[in-house]
Amino acid sequence: MSDTRDTTAPGTRIGVLTGGGDAPGLNAVIRAVVKAGTNAGCEIIGLEDSFDGLIEPDRWRRLTPRDVTGIIRLGGTILGTTNRGNPFAYPVATSGGTRDYSARCVEMYHELGLDALIVIGGDGTLAIADQFFRRGIPVVGVPKTIDNDIVETTDTFGFDTAVNFATEAIDRLHTTAESHHRVLVLEVMGRYAGWIALYAGVAGGADVILIPEIPFDIEKVAAHIKARDAYGARFSIVVVAEGAIPVGGTVTVLAAGTPEYVERLGGVGARVTASLQPLTGKETRNVVLGHLQRGGPPTSFDRVLATRFGSRAVELVLAGDFGKMVAFAPPDIVAVPLEKIVGRTRKVSLDSDVIRTARAMGIALGD
Ligand code: F6P
Repeated sequence: MSDTRDTTAPGTRIGVLTGGGDAPGLNAVIRAVVKAGTNAGCEIIGLEDSFDGLIEPDRWRRLTPRDVTGIIRLGGTILGTTNRGNPFAYPVATSGGTRDYSARCVEMYHELGLDALIVIGGDGTLAIADQFFRRGIPVVGVPKTIDNDIVETTDTFGFDTAVNFATEAIDRLHTTAESHHRVLVLEVMGRYAGWIALYAGVAGGADVILIPEIPFDIEKVAAHIKARDAYGARFSIVVVAEGAIPVGGTVTVLAAGTPEYVERLGGVGARVTASLQPLTGKETRNVVLGHLQRGGPPTSFDRVLATRFGSRAVELVLAGDFGKMVAFAPPDIVAVPLEKIVGRTRKVSLDSDVIRTARAMGIALGD
């Protein structure tokens, strides 16, 4: 690298970007990076729309504490984000193909005089961060996703907010389901892991929870609902993760994947609803929570976690400890090598306490 400034010295220039789908708490991390960094004598450069900020000119701006005042309570990200912006396979509209812009990013990194890069994102974005680290960019990663499916950290910020929102949705569905003696099916996010469905389902007192880790048998789900009817509970709440799969079946896809974008999931709630109505003989309705669970103000838990992550990321930069991801290992915030998380997904363990608790509550998991 051409820049030989001592990264521990005041005047360190830290770039920060947010990548992938947004999650409540992103702004809290940005704020923490700006405050902790500035207080330690660093200069913070915000890069816009993920790695686009290192591809296109003038997509960066200096961030001062004044710029981040009041954003801890805001959902979204003031820097913007994209989950189509992998610089190693960047979509090119004209030819319909992809191009490798990674060398451009490295060049721009040096042009901006950056000494380190803090990358806030999910597994895809962190894998890109790891690739840049291997190309000599001093990187620190911060894990983000409402799905809570990043390995080596017990929690990602955004998850608690999503679970709280989904729980409130279940609470609201309960009263109308009970009044009308209906089955209400709530589809929540969770591509490969059922954390949101499981936690919101347990917190909201759902009767059925379907997650990607446990292929479901719709006949068994229907039998559970009919058994509830038989003992006088004439309504049921079914929570289904978007990535849930029927036994012997596949995920429900809204739009096929492309070279630069993963397939869009969605519709399993409608499928479950369509099957349950004839099987149970009960009026069954479907609600999709969708992006509502990704918006809104972060919970206090997510604000604190995000602030601790941002602050720790700056500590790692100042210590010159790169190629790491900050992670929550209660009660501590620790640093784990980025390479340890690439290509892995943190799934719900089938013998975990939460699964056993759900079963002990009489909740059907579709198996
Ligand atoms: O990874 C988080 C997530 O919310 C997934 O649960 C969901 O499948 C995906 O993002 C949706 O992304 P998009 O907003 O790009 O459709």
